[in-house]
Amino acid sequence: MMLWIERALAMLLVGLVVVLTATTAVSWGGHGMSGLPLLIHMGASGALVFTLPVYAIIGLIGFSRRHLRASMYNIGFWGSVAFGLPTIATVFLCMLPIASTDTMHQLVSWHAWAGYALTIAAVVLVIGLLRRKVA
Ligand code: HEM
Repeated sequence: MMLWIERALAMLLVGLVVVLTATTAVSWGGHGMSGLPLLIHMGASGALVFTLPVYAIIGLIGFSRRHLRASMYNIGFWGSVAFGLPTIATVFLCMLPIASTDTMHQLVSWHAWAGYALTIAAVVLVIGLLRRKVA
């Protein structure tokens, strides 16, 4: 049962990362995000802020049960947690009344790097899920 919940959360996480990454395409030309893509990015990010911690806790509970052959899944899991948290934290810090404008620009830049690292981790997670070697 827990395994299915973990897999469902992993797939939800991957789906959200796909949406979040796709909506950043508008910023690739050097322009910031705006309009509908930014709105969708905000909606999906709200869902990710809840999904990632829940998935991390459920995944940690199941971690001890996992077989060594599930290494691809494990890398995807730890990568998603390791890069997902700074992706969220950088935006959270921007919202606090402590960051100057320059610091905010720096944080948004780090947010983008951490976010794309999360995208790569999600790809690894998908490969791990497809291999279906989670014990
Ligand atoms: C796969 C995950 C994510 C990726 C790849 C990603 C990537 C990006 C990129 C490239 C930008 C544009 C930065 C710029 O204008 O230079 C951006 C903007 C933004 N993202 Fe994300 N992001 C992700 C997840 C999230 C999450 C989880 C949150 C909220 C907790 C979030 C909140 C924001 C906000 C508020 C902006 C607008 C910043 C601004 O232009 O002022 N993103 N994101």
